[in-house]
Amino acid sequence: MDISRSLSALLLAAIALLTPAGAAELSIVTGSVGNDLKDTRALLAEFQQKTGNTVDIVTMPSSSSDQFAQFRLRLAARDADIDVYQTDIIWAPQLATHFVDLSPYVKDMASDEFKAILASQTVDGRLAALPMFADAPALYYRKDLLDKYGKDVPKTWAGMATTAKAIMDGERKAGNSKIWGFVFQGASYEGLTCNALEWIASQGGGHIVEPDGTVSVDNPKAEKAIERAKSWIGTIAPPGVLAYQEEESRGVWQSGNAVFMRNWPYAYALGNGEDSPIKGKFDATPLPAGEGEQPAGALGGWALAVSKYSRHPKEAIELAVFLTSAYAQKYRALKSSRLPTLRSLYDDREIAERQPIIPRWKKVLENAVARPTAATGAKYNEVSSDFWTAVHNTLSGEGSADANLELLKAQLLDLRGGGW
Ligand code: GLC
Repeated sequence: MDISRSLSALLLAAIALLTPAGAAELSIVTGSVGNDLKDTRALLAEFQQKTGNTVDIVTMPSSSSDQFAQFRLRLAARDADIDVYQTDIIWAPQLATHFVDLSPYVKDMASDEFKAILASQTVDGRLAALPMFADAPALYYRKDLLDKYGKDVPKTWAGMATTAKAIMDGERKAGNSKIWGFVFQGASYEGLTCNALEWIASQGGGHIVEPDGTVSVDNPKAEKAIERAKSWIGTIAPPGVLAYQEEESRGVWQSGNAVFMRNWPYAYALGNGEDSPIKGKFDATPLPAGEGEQPAGALGGWALAVSKYSRHPKEAIELAVFLTSAYAQKYRALKSSRLPTLRSLYDDREIAERQPIIPRWKKVLENAVARPTAATGAKYNEVSSDFWTAVHNTLSGEGSADANLELLKAQLLDLRGGGW
């Protein structure tokens, strides 16, 4: 045995001695935007210190839709290398059979959780995942620019577009050639489903598929909402918005090149970061609505599920419980303005001081609109991808909203077949 071989054998023996008996090597798979990974790493370091278990992070693309495709493959293959999955709250009905029932572990916190979120993770009486943070969107606006042009915070989509155009034109005349009026998530993925559901629901056009299973999306109000969004492309929104996910919109916004942005609360802490050019210059308000209609924000959020195929279920559950605890949720709220799923944290003084958007967002979250996951069950992913494709085609000028929604209706009825 050469010397380097015997040294590494010694090293391995020493590590084995140092590792507490029974300590597990766990893997968590997770996507991220903004500082999510940084927060997860910091929390994992604490978990490792406390328990002796090590945790490897397997990173995923940021798009929820891309993650879903990969998770489905891994789970179908009964992949034993992944212990914990960070799941979008919309996936529970489709993936629950692969996950451990976590209802015994939420007990203490159940009464503090938002009912709708807990319900979204409950499938056939089993809890598929522990809620980790919630999401409900904001219309971010540049306070300084609205003040400069004497404009009010818009309450309607039409008002938003008029103000966006006026300020954009004014700023461009003054030499800021890069500025746009509005950025959002227009790429072909789950984020566009959220944005377009908001446009439609806030126009009184329903929720794509209604709770009783009716396909409602082909209606004049939905058409109007999507045609209106189409009119933004190239006028107040950059043509590139058709490829934007959350982080691309935040990139334009945070470098000071947008008057308005639709995004989730994580953009609040980042926009106020030390190195942010728009620090202190913006605020957030609920999304606008159609004339005489109610605003609608999509309910989002993420949760942690434990794989049935994990070799270390006990430790994996311990990890999921820790990362969704009040302590971890407060950490994410303070650092990254991630909305807690625990109601008591909305009364936390420290959170209110450091991230004032959070207590203000409790109501927005309570009124948020769910995507039709409960109604469409295992078919939600296809419903959503047919929907975002129809919307993306319309925004790109491939067919009118009228024609594309009619086609979508036929696709959804076909998909539904004898029932969802
Ligand atoms: C956010 C939401 C999630 C949603 C996704 C769409 O991450 O929390 O629920 O599906 O955005 O891009």
